[in-house]
Amino acid sequence: MIGAGIAGLTTAYLLARDGRSVVVIDTGRVGNGQTAVTTAHLSSVIDDTFKEMLHLHGPDGARLAHDSHARAVDRIEMICGDEHVDCRFERLDGYLFLGKKDKESTLEEELEAARAAGAKVTRLPQAPVTGFKSGPCLRFPHQAQFHPLRYLNGLAGAFARRGGRIYSGTQAVEAIGGARACVKTASGHSIRVSAIVVATNSPFNDLLAIHTKQAPYQTYAVGARVKADAITRALYWDTEDPYHYVRLQRITNRELGGDNDEPIDILIVGGEDHKSAKADDADARFARLESWMRDHFPAAGSVEFRWSGQVMETVDGLAFIGRNPLDADNVYVATGDSGMGMTHGTIAGMLIADLIQGRENPWTELYDPGRVRTGAAVEWVKENINVALQYKDWLTGGDVTSVDEITPNNGAIMVEAGRKIAVYRDERGSLHRRSAVCPHLGCIVGWNPASSTWDCPCHGSRFDRFGAMFNGPSPKDLDPA
Ligand SMILES: Cc1cc2nc3c(=O)[nH]c(=O)nc-3n(C[C@H](O)[C@H](O)[C@H](O)COP(=O)(O)OP(=O)(O)OC[C@H]3O[C@@H](n4cnc5c(N)ncnc54)[C@H](O)[C@@H]3O)c2cc1C
Ligand code: FES
Repeated sequence: MIGAGIAGLTTAYLLARDGRSVVVIDTGRVGNGQTAVTTAHLSSVIDDTFKEMLHLHGPDGARLAHDSHARAVDRIEMICGDEHVDCRFERLDGYLFLGKKDKESTLEEELEAARAAGAKVTRLPQAPVTGFKSGPCLRFPHQAQFHPLRYLNGLAGAFARRGGRIYSGTQAVEAIGGARACVKTASGHSIRVSAIVVATNSPFNDLLAIHTKQAPYQTYAVGARVKADAITRALYWDTEDPYHYVRLQRITNRELGGDNDEPIDILIVGGEDHKSAKADDADARFARLESWMRDHFPAAGSVEFRWSGQVMETVDGLAFIGRNPLDADNVYVATGDSGMGMTHGTIAGMLIADLIQGRENPWTELYDPGRVRTGAAVEWVKENINVALQYKDWLTGGDVTSVDEITPNNGAIMVEAGRKIAVYRDERGSLHRRSAVCPHLGCIVGWNPASSTWDCPCHGSRFDRFGAMFNGPSPKDLDPA
């Protein structure tokens, strides 16, 4: 198993539970990737809308999509119970409400599509909640939320109790399938295996088959202090594009640095998505999110948290889970979270554990990484033109012309001797230079001020401020300058 996020650890745990011998390696530690920055809505309501699911995957596909996500939430709940994972899992309602400019017909159409996909849903003139005036909305009962890192640590513990082994700080550079399958690591070791699962969020073992069908997007979140129960705990999201997503997390005052255990809620609001590495206005995006939050949730207090992360958007709204296309039969992949990586990661665990053990699974075709849906052609062309356009970055100038323009704890792209260089100035003023050329397929990375990372706009590779890779598909760090 390569990758110790929710997809890798769920798959590893379910295989170990079936008595299989499983080793997990991760370039960092457990929760090194996007699972650490998720807002953790656990929902069977598809982000890309049921209307889109019907259009792209037909009535049977839309029903399977809804059912698989509902079963993933059930499975998470079951694992929490079986393994006594204290991750604050709770069931609650989900409300879809209208964006500022959207018409009520948007809700009508989604209501009809959701019913066709088998979702339990009702239309209401107003969500029956305190602290938020939703206006007309759709109510989806029996959704859920949890604390993602507590869950991940619980999974890791349960996996270890079943004999599973996790090797942190071990980067995979090659996944070779077939009769003599093995994973090669950056430190020159070879791990002999009977099956390989690449769960690195964006697979490093695939050059084009999958990467032409998905694209990396940055998304932002803020967390504000709220008096306990001032706003009803539920999942909320609107019909805008990009949409806003909202939930509350109960914590104690002590967890915020206070001196007592008084309960408080953190109101988490996300949105402001854009193509990775194609915007450097994080402060403006956080400010817009905060202003939206105060308009809609007047009880919001001081902002305590701000963060961002990356989601992989596929051209047809569902993840790619199963056998790696154009590869040996014993190499599997889980990617394309589409903003629903908690449930897609759990579906990956259930589906890949079945495939490896030769069991039939009704979701195999729906999530097949080799699939091509004709309805997704326009999106496919759009995203690939966008990737092709990124190569023009080779010809443009840098963000700055002199290192003097780079303030401490900031990065910028510069042109030096005709080459693009990623320059980071640390807190003490020292400069760290790396090649700005992404080792995957040569796009030029960009500085992300929200997370102090170098992000590639093409297929989702991400590097820390010093150039160390922490998210594929790049098989290695940025080269020295
Ligand atoms: C702000 C934000 C909000 C979100 N909100 C939601 C939400 O509400 N609900 C939801 O369902 N989803 C949400 N998501 C999406 C979700 O967080 C992710 O899709 C999910 O966490 C991805 O899990 P993963 O296991 O696929 O990848 P990751 O958690 O990224 O794990 C991949 C692991 O692979 C390791 N790795 C990478 N390359 C290598 C290599 N070569 N060798 C070894 N190890 C390697 C990494 O170190 C990492 O630990 C959100 C995402 C963001 C950023
Ligand atoms: S991730 Fe493919 S070129 Fe950078």
